[in-house]
Amino acid sequence: MSLTLTHAAHSHAGTPAGTVTAAAPLKGGPTLPQERRLVTSIPGPKSVELMQRKHDAVSSSVGTMMPVYTAAAGGGVLIDVDGNSLIDLGSGIAVTTVGNADPHVAAAVMAQVQSFTHTCFMVTPYDNYVTLAEKLNALTPGDHAKKTALFNSGAEAVENAIKVARYYTGRRAVVAFDHGYHGRTNLTMALTSKAMPYKSGFGPFAPDVYRAPMSYPYRDGLSGEEAAKRAIHTIEKQIGADRTAAIIIEPIQGEGGFVVPAPGFLPALQRWANANGVVFIADEVQTGFVRTGQMFASEHEGIVPDMMTLAKGIAGGLPLAAVVGKAEIMDAPHTGGLGGTYGGNPISTAAALATLESYEANDSLTRATEIGAILLEVLSGLQANDARIGDIRGRGAMMAIELVTAEGAPDAALTGAVAKFCHNAGVIVLTCGTDGNVFRLLPPLSISDELLREGLGVLAEALAAN
Ligand SMILES: Cc1ncc(COP(=O)(O)O)c(C=O)c1O
Repeated sequence: MSLTLTHAAHSHAGTPAGTVTAAAPLKGGPTLPQERRLVTSIPGPKSVELMQRKHDAVSSSVGTMMPVYTAAAGGGVLIDVDGNSLIDLGSGIAVTTVGNADPHVAAAVMAQVQSFTHTCFMVTPYDNYVTLAEKLNALTPGDHAKKTALFNSGAEAVENAIKVARYYTGRRAVVAFDHGYHGRTNLTMALTSKAMPYKSGFGPFAPDVYRAPMSYPYRDGLSGEEAAKRAIHTIEKQIGADRTAAIIIEPIQGEGGFVVPAPGFLPALQRWANANGVVFIADEVQTGFVRTGQMFASEHEGIVPDMMTLAKGIAGGLPLAAVVGKAEIMDAPHTGGLGGTYGGNPISTAAALATLESYEANDSLTRATEIGAILLEVLSGLQANDARIGDIRGRGAMMAIELVTAEGAPDAALTGAVAKFCHNAGVIVLTCGTDGNVFRLLPPLSISDELLREGLGVLAEALAAN
């Protein structure tokens, strides 16, 4: 199928800075031809030109994994400014779960933008915010009374969850876990485990943050109960239960390597937290909203967190985050203690309400499970003939392989080479893991089976070639 590109051509040479010589924008969404098609090498000349402009204009501290500039995206593809059509197996880091430029979300955003763009909920509130809070209170695990507060990013949600937990308990210590990732603000850097690139040189970090050992079955071989015992021992002996305000944990670790704790680990931690007056916070920023085949990953283990932090898949690509928690905890701080200029912005909340409707209309839970079955089938087939795939793990449309050497050591070089091969062949993939040796797959649920299998076929070629 041929694709006529009418997207904006951002020509720099001969154009005054800031001027865009634009044709009509290329429309995203599922109507884009669903195919992998390369018309230039990757990156193409227009992307190379934009990379040069980025180099001159954007802080070099802001990295880009794949130097390919986007013109449109939707379904399972991303079209770049050179007209290449790439298979998207990353969803902008687990954000566009509902699909990029989902038509229902786009329509809701358009309608809201034409109505009002901002008032600040703390000044003159609006319906969307309250309706979304009601929906999140109903959707999250547990039938206790819940309350919600909205923010802009995952890190901001985590910061606020910790603020509330400290206020509620009157305690200061917070426990995070090895390999955990919670963001890049000062407190969330302290909570985040990996130094490079997230923390190195950016300290000092917020005090009273401690780290406990995670359950990592592939590496530690412990049962969930054993790993929980180890973690609880660390907390009790090194911090003290009565000093601990909260433990915060990702039910499946994201940036840390898609680590799925052994069964029983999360419930045992939650039982201990409940018994000791410690607030149990599930950070579901990456796992939340259908991706794992449940609305929230906590549900796979039957845990009912005291608080949850949510973002990414909540609003189809618009910036929004939430803290949902037990009403008595969420209501503990004084009125005015939480907030922010943009938190729960009307456009983002409109997008979120439409995103939730799209999940429902598209039977997305089933789709995430189907995608998980395809991922597992193909990855297991690859592992059967390739000992370098040490582990396959994840749930639903959040799956990864951990690549290791013959000696079983993390193989970051191979992981990087495999990712690069995929990028050059027109497949957007991401890596992760404390040791950089985990290759993760986060396709949008709007991808077709054919495109998903084609993308995985490129992964197979990449492994064969390296
Ligand atoms: C589990 C988890 N928590 C928090 C964050 C931070 O979210 P944000 O990048 O929106 O600040 C992330 C981002 O990847 C995440 O995966």
